[in-house]
Amino acid sequence: MTESEAIQARHSVRQYKAKAIEGDVAKQIEDKVAEVNAESGLHFQFLNDSGTAYTNLFLKITGLNSAPASIACVGKDSADLEEKVGYYGEKIVLFLQTIGLNTCWVGSFNKKRSEAEIGEGEKNVISIAVGYGENEGKAHKSKSVDQLVEAKADSPEWFNEGVKAALLAPTALNQQKFVIRLKDDDSAEIVSKGGAFTSVDLGIVKYHFEVGSGRKL
Ligand SMILES: Cc1cc2nc3c(=O)[nH]c(=O)nc-3n(C[C@H](O)[C@H](O)[C@H](O)COP(=O)(O)O)c2cc1C
Repeated sequence: MTESEAIQARHSVRQYKAKAIEGDVAKQIEDKVAEVNAESGLHFQFLNDSGTAYTNLFLKITGLNSAPASIACVGKDSADLEEKVGYYGEKIVLFLQTIGLNTCWVGSFNKKRSEAEIGEGEKNVISIAVGYGENEGKAHKSKSVDQLVEAKADSPEWFNEGVKAALLAPTALNQQKFVIRLKDDDSAEIVSKGGAFTSVDLGIVKYHFEVGSGRKL
């Protein structure tokens, strides 16, 4: 499965099989996390036991407490930390999809109970639930292209492909609070409309756009 295919196949999954992530699969995840950390300077951690970080009532109701494992999204506190976590975290999410795992970004995890290592000056931004899903989730309802895009009618193919991938991106509460613009110099920009978790969302949406369009923003 390619990253573009993973963008099509990925949906948030909240019910997981009681099946541990073992052997070679666990090793592939550890290697990917190490590679992304080296590239980004972030401190993502694969916790192959989600422990008690998902035990609050809301996560029990949604089923997310069944997730056997998680990715802790940690990094040095900075103005762009949340956006970077979104961008590089989604790179990990799509990789996990390509190797047959399912995921869900979890903003409402129990930070105090997280077993992540938090170094001096670091922040534990968000968690990603990981495991073998009981199902593959389902496609989210999306805002229309007209609501999310500002571009001339005859926008180029690469831009349209980027938009398609961006509309499939997960966002907190499916809020899709962003605008994708095609600028006069034929470059694209994506800006956030602000609000809770919208910086993480922005990083995720930018990563999808880049994979879909084949261009760096
Ligand atoms: C930053 C962020 C935080 C999220 N937090 C939660 C959460 O705490 N609980 C939950 O059930 N889903 C959470 N989600 C998943 C969203 O509800 C989901 O991505 C959205 O409804 C779109 O659905 P999809 O991921 O299936 O495309 C979060 C997603 C993002 C991007």
